[in-house]
Amino acid sequence: MTRPDGTELAGDQALRDLVGVALDALAEGVLKRGGPLPSGGPRAIRAPLVQSGVGPVDALVELTRFLAHGSADPADPACAAHLHCPPLAVAAVADLVASALNPSMDSWDQAPSASAIEEQLCQELARLCYPAAENPDAVITTGGTESTLYGLLLARENVGRVQPVCGRNAHHSVARAAWVLGLPQPIPVDCVADRIVPAKLAEVLAAVDGPAAVVATAGTTNTGAIDPLPEIAALRPAWLHIDAAYGGGLLFSERQLLDGIDAADSIGLDLHKFGWQPIAAGVFAAKSARTLHALDVRADYLNAADDAEAGLPDLLGRSLRTSRRPDAFKIAVTLRALGRDGIGAMVDHCRDTAQAVAAAVRAHRDLRLWGEPTLSTILLRPLVADQVESELGLDAGNAVVAAIRRDLLDAGTAVVGRAAIAPSTEDGWDGRERLWLKLTLLHPHATAADYAPVLDLIAGRR
Ligand SMILES: Cc1ncc(COP(=O)(O)O)c(C=O)c1O
Repeated sequence: MTRPDGTELAGDQALRDLVGVALDALAEGVLKRGGPLPSGGPRAIRAPLVQSGVGPVDALVELTRFLAHGSADPADPACAAHLHCPPLAVAAVADLVASALNPSMDSWDQAPSASAIEEQLCQELARLCYPAAENPDAVITTGGTESTLYGLLLARENVGRVQPVCGRNAHHSVARAAWVLGLPQPIPVDCVADRIVPAKLAEVLAAVDGPAAVVATAGTTNTGAIDPLPEIAALRPAWLHIDAAYGGGLLFSERQLLDGIDAADSIGLDLHKFGWQPIAAGVFAAKSARTLHALDVRADYLNAADDAEAGLPDLLGRSLRTSRRPDAFKIAVTLRALGRDGIGAMVDHCRDTAQAVAAAVRAHRDLRLWGEPTLSTILLRPLVADQVESELGLDAGNAVVAAIRRDLLDAGTAVVGRAAIAPSTEDGWDGRERLWLKLTLLHPHATAADYAPVLDLIAGRR
């Protein structure tokens, strides 16, 4: 290390030295944690002071140990609450390369190779979403939230002031996007088994005055259910965006469940879910590249008209952001390493494991299964919560479920999610929700046996 004050730039030797230091500290922190997350909850976690300079080695050792010890580790099968994947080593190292070189994706003169990689990757991903479309395109986003924002933005810019419509199963980012864009709040459509009921959607659309932008979900946050995409597309809303943040990973698999997805005007998919990328790795695909011109903007210092005429690629219109990380790089390296089939096989593995874990829940004498998993999400409920519900009511049963989850977090033994689901009824929603525990399986190597201890923990058999 030639500059111990920490001002060494991210060159070859400095990186070698500091990466070694960081990896050692990381291993120490993980060893000290010894489970999926540290015990004791937020009270037990106190961050070190950061404003006094101690030099790069000491700072990295101290804070990396702290971060690793206090991380919720998605590489531990007992950490299965969220759509939070363990990143692949190849993707994490590619991200390090991107950080060191720091291409900025707002102009070609800051990112010649990175922009070429992004263009090629976006073309390939757009084609994956829209195999038969004439001229599809895709841009890189920070994830499902930004992709949904783009979906409604393109709807507004290409169709006019749309009324957003989405299922009650939709992600909260649909309502937020409408709010940011100054559109009316989405009209909610009733669901059965966490899927939009097409007849209910037809009723809503018939009552909307003016163009409607429907947001359907392929892989809901709560259950992984996939809305009936062909039936929804057949209703021909003025704009159809499909939030495939989770289910979009199926596009890499031979086992397709996404029939009708290419009828959508736009699709969001997240490779930091099924895709095993470090955050962020979102993709927004548009059926017609023309509609993406809604993002165009001119800034002389970045994409002057004469530069564009001279053939310099215009990157600014490929995002709402200006400076932007080359997130395409790690995705491209991963796809190059594993191929489309390699990612698809990992998706299939998680789905097969979910089926096996669902069978184990069904066979467990203290647990109840919500329904068969579609993707890799399993909802389950300890029978004790049902007993309390039958004696003291829904809220009391829900409180039991919530407390089990928090107890596991506090003990540091498992990170389990929660999902509030409206009991299915064809007559519509009566406003009541039952709380379930949720396992979202994104570990590409774990087997059903690895989840057996988590089931026992939930059932109170430790
Ligand atoms: C269905 C769905 N859409 C959108 C999002 C938001 O994605 P992100 O956190 O990448 O913005 C999520 C997050 O889990 C999701 O489950």
